[in-house]
Amino acid sequence: MAKVVLGVAGGIAAYKAVELLRQFTETGHDVTVVPTASALEFVGAPTWAALSGKPVSASTWDQVHQVPHVRIGQEADLVVVAPATANLLAKAAHGLADDLLTNTLLTARCPVVMAPAMHTEMWEHAATQANVATLRSRGVLVVEPAVGRLTGADSGKGRLPEPEELAHLVRQVLARGSAELDLTGRRVVVSSGGTREHLDPVRYLGNRSSGRQGHALARAAVARGAEVVLVSSSGLPDPAGVKVVRVTSALELHDAVLAESADADAVVMAAAVADYRPAERLAAKRKKTETMTVELIQNPDVLQELVAARRPGQVLVGFAAETGDETRSPIDYGRDKLARKGCDLLVVNEVGEAGHPTGFEGTHNAATVLGADGSVTDVPLVSKDALADIVWDLVEQRLPARP
Ligand code: CTP
Repeated sequence: MAKVVLGVAGGIAAYKAVELLRQFTETGHDVTVVPTASALEFVGAPTWAALSGKPVSASTWDQVHQVPHVRIGQEADLVVVAPATANLLAKAAHGLADDLLTNTLLTARCPVVMAPAMHTEMWEHAATQANVATLRSRGVLVVEPAVGRLTGADSGKGRLPEPEELAHLVRQVLARGSAELDLTGRRVVVSSGGTREHLDPVRYLGNRSSGRQGHALARAAVARGAEVVLVSSSGLPDPAGVKVVRVTSALELHDAVLAESADADAVVMAAAVADYRPAERLAAKRKKTETMTVELIQNPDVLQELVAARRPGQVLVGFAAETGDETRSPIDYGRDKLARKGCDLLVVNEVGEAGHPTGFEGTHNAATVLGADGSVTDVPLVSKDALADIVWDLVEQRLPARP
C-alpha cells in the first residue's frame, strides 16, 4: 500500500479529482488529500475527508503540532497534483510555499506527477510553458492535458485526462518505483489495435487484437517522460498525456504512422495490421447470396516502410504473434521475421489458447524480445504494463546518447 498525496488546485476539474481519489482508495492506497483554498471553493473539505478517511486542510496552520507542512511531503511515496492550475504550476516552478500543498511539493522527494487543466490560452501562454519546462527539467512528470470540451461550450487543449486513465498512469509510475524520466525529450510513436478492412458500409474484416499492449506501451512511455503519439484503431479510451490519432483501416494507419514517425526517436508497431483488404469497398450494403467471393489485395507493410525511411538513430520495434509447429518454435519464426522486417527489436509472443491470460484480450503477456544485435530477452508472464516497461528499457539502451 503506497502513501499517495493527492494535491488539488482550484480549477473546475477539481470535481474529477474526486473520482481520482476514489480510484486510488479502491486500489488500496493510503491517500492524503491536500487541496488549495481555491480548490475548496469547487469541492468542499467534507467530500475529500469522507472519501479519504482523513482530515483535510489547505492551510499550514491546522494541527501544527504534527508539522504537516513537512511531514506529508516527506512521508509520501508519490505526489500527484490534479488538476494543476496555471497558478499552481507557477508557484511550484518558483518554489513558493504559501499553503500546505506548495509546502508539501517542496518537502517531497518521491516522484511528483502534475496533471495541468486550464483554458487553452492559459496553457499555451509563454509563462505557463516556461514553468512547465522548469518543472520537467527538475524531474516532475507534467502530463500533457487532453484535447476536448473545456468548462463551457468551448473546447481545445486543456482538459484534465479522464480519472481512470490518470490513475492508471500513476499506478504505472508507482509500479516502476523510479522517478527517473529517462525518455524526457524523446518523441515516440506507438501503434495499437487491430485494423478494420471495410467490405461495405456495414461490414469489415478484422482481427482479435484489443489494443491493450499498445496502450500500455503509450502509457509507460508517458510515465518515463516521453512525448507520445498513439496511432490507434482500438476502441480503448485515450491514455493520459498521449496525443491519440484514431484510425480504422490499415491504409489510414499506414499514412498516420508514417507522417508521425518522420521525426520520432522510436516507433513501436504493436498494431495488428491486416495484411489484406477487400479489393473494393462497396458503397451499398452487399446483398445476401448463396456463396460469396471477396477478392483481397495486399496492404502495404508499414514496418518495412518505416525501416526503409528510417532516420539515423531511430529505433524501430515490431511485434509478432506466432505459433510454432512440429519442426520450428515461435522463436525460430520470430528470428526469420526480424531479419525479414529489418527492425531493431521484435517482441515475439506465442498466441495463447482461448481463455489463456496471454495475448489478445488478456491483461498479461509473456514474450521473447529478439534484438537485431542477437540479444534475446525472455519475459515471463507479466502484466502488459510491465512488458511495456521492459520494451522501453530495451529501446532506451539503443537510442543514441543525447548531444
Ligand atoms: N506490420 C506492418 N504492416 C503490415 C503488417 C504487419 O507494419 N501490413 C507490422 C506489425 O505491426 C508488427 C509486425 O509488422 O509489428 C509483424 O506483424 P505480422 O503480422 O506478424 O507480420 P507479417 O509480415 O504480416 O507476417 P505474417 O506472414 O506472419 O503475417
